[in-house]
Amino acid sequence: MIYNIESKYGKNWVLGENNVKENWEYPAKYESVFCQGNGYMCVRASNEERCSSNVGAYTLVAGTYDCGENDDCTALPNLPDTVHFAMTVDGESVAFDNAKDGTYLRTLDLRSGLLERTFDFDAAGAEYNAHFRRVVSLADKHLAAAEIIISPKDHTKGFSFTADGGVLGSGYGGMGHFAEGVRSAADGVMQVVTYTKQSEIRISVTELVKYELEKDGVRTPVKAKETFDCTSASNCVKYAAQIDVPAGFSLIATKYVVIFTSRDQGGEMLGLSELSDLGAKRVKAAAGRPFDRVLAESAAEWERRIWSCRDVSIEGAPSADLDLLAYRFAIYHLTVMSPVHDNRMNIGAKGLSGPGYNGHAFWDTEIYMLPYFIFEAPEEARSLVEYRVNSLGACRRNAKKGGDRGARFCWESAWITDGEATPVWCDTGDLELHITADVALGAYYYYIASGDEAFMKNGGYELIFDTASFWASHMKLNEATGRFEIHDVTGPNEFHTHVDNNAYTNYLAANNLEAALKYEKHLAGRDPELHERLGGHIDVGLWQNALDKLYLPQPNEDGIIPEHDGFFDLPEIVFDGEESVSKNPKAWERTEKHGGVDKVQCSKQADVAALLYQMEDKFGADIKKKNFYFYERNCYHSSSLSLNTYSCLAADMGELDMAYELFERAMLIDMSNEPASSSAGIHAASLGGIWQCVVLGFGGVRRVGDDLRIEPHLPPAWTKLAFEISWKGQRLAVTETANGFTVENITVGDKTPVSFISGGSVYTVADKVEVAAK
Ligand code: IFM
Repeated sequence: MIYNIESKYGKNWVLGENNVKENWEYPAKYESVFCQGNGYMCVRASNEERCSSNVGAYTLVAGTYDCGENDDCTALPNLPDTVHFAMTVDGESVAFDNAKDGTYLRTLDLRSGLLERTFDFDAAGAEYNAHFRRVVSLADKHLAAAEIIISPKDHTKGFSFTADGGVLGSGYGGMGHFAEGVRSAADGVMQVVTYTKQSEIRISVTELVKYELEKDGVRTPVKAKETFDCTSASNCVKYAAQIDVPAGFSLIATKYVVIFTSRDQGGEMLGLSELSDLGAKRVKAAAGRPFDRVLAESAAEWERRIWSCRDVSIEGAPSADLDLLAYRFAIYHLTVMSPVHDNRMNIGAKGLSGPGYNGHAFWDTEIYMLPYFIFEAPEEARSLVEYRVNSLGACRRNAKKGGDRGARFCWESAWITDGEATPVWCDTGDLELHITADVALGAYYYYIASGDEAFMKNGGYELIFDTASFWASHMKLNEATGRFEIHDVTGPNEFHTHVDNNAYTNYLAANNLEAALKYEKHLAGRDPELHERLGGHIDVGLWQNALDKLYLPQPNEDGIIPEHDGFFDLPEIVFDGEESVSKNPKAWERTEKHGGVDKVQCSKQADVAALLYQMEDKFGADIKKKNFYFYERNCYHSSSLSLNTYSCLAADMGELDMAYELFERAMLIDMSNEPASSSAGIHAASLGGIWQCVVLGFGGVRRVGDDLRIEPHLPPAWTKLAFEISWKGQRLAVTETANGFTVENITVGDKTPVSFISGGSVYTVADKVEVAAK
């Protein structure tokens, strides 16, 4: 991976790779890391000319879940492939693995969303350059475009060019989901119209290729000899083209791809023929625009919606450059993968970047990604929390199925009515109950930060009440102690399954109950009529009793909170003076000797640490510190959801070197040089976590109770950090240096003063407030 690429906008916007061997051997990693999308659809960065990956070319459209032929669980189906475009020049194939030494480079421009690839190659004794550019438009969510330029280095001779591609239904796994559809090719428009086998979602995939010759910067359209073959099965329209390129010219092929589905908002009633007409009309209109214009329109949207307000400025030591690139990489992917245009959809654990986790959403959304949306784009956060409200029906059925009241959120979620989407072979769906409290936390976190009363009235109150009722009915009375306990769960530490009283789960359940009690009073005061109408969801007596009696694991004599019952009875695997388990080979030997990760005091990921981070006002500084060190020492950080939490906690505690070290490890989870990481998709939660490390960790921004707190903890490598956040409908620009920080209210339109806490004092910012470092 190459990080230090200069671009037209300066440093830290472009990342790349120039390793032909790695692209050949491990294409899947780069397909994920360089994927492009717009929240509606996402196209993996598979090579046009050749795809040898076992994950393969993937185009996923948010929300199009289907079970296919097995009813194990729904998954996002892989659409017919529109990337493949095999080419020859004078009969010799144009392929990156034939690149001349030192000429191959692939880059992803995070600012405009442009994916580019270039290499030189020889064909029939002459030298050529191949230059590929691709964009998935952020301005028109149904549109993707690609341009390929083949330029001879020596313009004294012409060449024969052929292409071979089309709309190929053989996309890995695709045919398990799609019925054999209608294949057509008319006026150069290739199209497959089909539907998913179980969920019956209709889709049209439409493609058109046009050609130009270029000389001295002037482009002239040219017609290729084209053949289209709609006879082969598996939703394929096979396409072949041939052009004789005269001496002195380069050849440009521009491909336009348009996708529509009956899942599109407002498109639910569209039949196959209407989707077909729509696709054909839109692809022809798109083809009237050169690639550069499609790119410019998309780049303008990236600028308007994302970079003009969600970028940060990080200044300092040379390492700050990579930190800034990593931040932008995270924001890029959070944009590409999040279907925030549609409140019936949520963010998959791999976004839309690959088949991992079937496109399902987890607690990753509320705990790792939602804070980014809440502080950067509250209207997008609203769509995500509304998705949970829209899933309430299925979650109420989920609770009932388990003999409980209220609503129990699904560990894996797909379409809003699907219910539990965890594959049947996996027991996490029965065990990771904490998701219910995580979702409730997300809802009221959003409400507190945005002040969006309409959200609460349209389902937010019900969500908080029904989730509290689930906990109250699910917990069990321990006859011996008279307390309520939560048995047989898996907490965030998935190494230890079927445990009792996981601290994270119990504390968050208590918090869910507290929230229900608080918001019941709040609603009674604000809107007695709605309160009356929601009477069937309100059970103050039940919630209060559950809260009063729920067992909350307390710190032992060393100040350590047991992760779950019996955790301290397990053998230790690291001892005082030794490195933490994630860096300590002896720990692994001892783990194996004791029979595995579930038999020793270790964790897969932040668990008690996640509790300390989420419920920071519940624990004193001393307890926090002791638990941080104890659990970090015992944590393998085997999940991408771990390092970022520990980094934020370390920043809160003022352990800035450690916070920075953990952050640097976290930010390389997808961006590293490790060639096989991220193959099945990028790590969505980890990317939300990178934003958290920067803004919540080092930037020191936090929601504490109902308040905003800003207490910067810049790492020694940074001299300045500047960013924007939203709070209660106001936009604030925060600039932090070693001397202190300023908060400026930059809201366009109605400005109202915003209060925040820092160092125990309350500040109110009408226009600008300066806080000196203490
Ligand atoms: O939600 C996570 C879980 O905490 C760890 N395993 C992967 C899941 C999806 O990212």
